[in-house]
Amino acid sequence: MKILVIGSGGNIGTPLVQALMEKGIEPTVGVRDAQKAKDKWGSQVQVVSFDYERPSSFANALAGQEAVFFIAGHSNPVPSVTQLLAAAKSAGVKRMVFSSGRTTGDVPGKPLNDVENLVKGWDGEWTILRPGWFMQNFVNWLGGTIRAESKLFLPAAAAKTAFVDVRDIADVAIKCLLEEGHHGQLYNLTSDEALNHEEVCSMISEASGKKVVYVPQERETYLQTMMERGWTNAAANYTADLYKYVLSGKEEEISDDVARILGKTPRRFQAFAKEHANRF
Ligand SMILES: NC(=O)c1ccc[n+]([C@@H]2O[C@H](COP(=O)([O-])OP(=O)(O)OC[C@H]3O[C@@H](n4cnc5c(N)ncnc54)[C@H](OP(=O)(O)O)[C@@H]3O)[C@@H](O)[C@H]2O)c1
Repeated sequence: MKILVIGSGGNIGTPLVQALMEKGIEPTVGVRDAQKAKDKWGSQVQVVSFDYERPSSFANALAGQEAVFFIAGHSNPVPSVTQLLAAAKSAGVKRMVFSSGRTTGDVPGKPLNDVENLVKGWDGEWTILRPGWFMQNFVNWLGGTIRAESKLFLPAAAAKTAFVDVRDIADVAIKCLLEEGHHGQLYNLTSDEALNHEEVCSMISEASGKKVVYVPQERETYLQTMMERGWTNAAANYTADLYKYVLSGKEEEISDDVARILGKTPRRFQAFAKEHANRF
């Protein structure tokens, strides 16, 4: 099966490409910076030019592909994904697997929901993945204050989140790309437990051997805290807006889709923290 991965440099795309290669499949990665991708993947992947901001790059990237994995991790995705889906149809692509997000994938007017609706209208096989919050956020996006101050500031009170390890998203994506039976499905991807951030910090502390403290904050204090630490106003507000959904309790719900599709228990946060102990 010829597979194109869009977003191969990201949280999900990286383990997805790795797992495809472990299966003996040589994927194609559609990227803006070919040299960066070649440095990352060596000669084991095909590299093609792909930029959401440059729809003229779509046809060549899609030529000969049978299945496509994509995210919409760029600004204003609706026009470019509309063109991507049309180009995929013209290129004869059989299957599109879109990784959306559980937080806003079902919220009308939000970009991920708009893209989901486009995918649902695509004239071919499609699957939508709705992952919960990534465990990897605590080493990437939210990891700065954990490493620098042994503190995790968030406007999340004691709300719980059913996190997911991006490697489980990748493993589910592979099934959807390679196997029959996933057309028209929307999968919610979480671990099999929901944790609050005090529990998260306690697991990080146990794994790393340094005491990491969760500092729950009201929105305004949170914005101030993060801007004092170099975040832009836009980044702090964006994050605070997303945590409104966590506070609502929406992220607490556990799905058994990962276990059902993979036939194994999803990865849990404690194991993730142990594996990444030296990154906290
Ligand atoms: N973080 C979470 O907890 C969470 C949870 C659920 C859903 N999500 C959703 O997951 C998606 C992000 O996925 P991710 O975390 O795997 O991605 P990511 O780590 O944010 O990386 C984004 C990827 O998209 C590529 N990209 C950016 N702009 C592009 C463009 N104009 N054309 C082509 N490629 C472009 C980047 O390429 P370069 O490597 O070249 O920069 C990179 O590979 C978002 O839609 C987010 O809302 C996130």
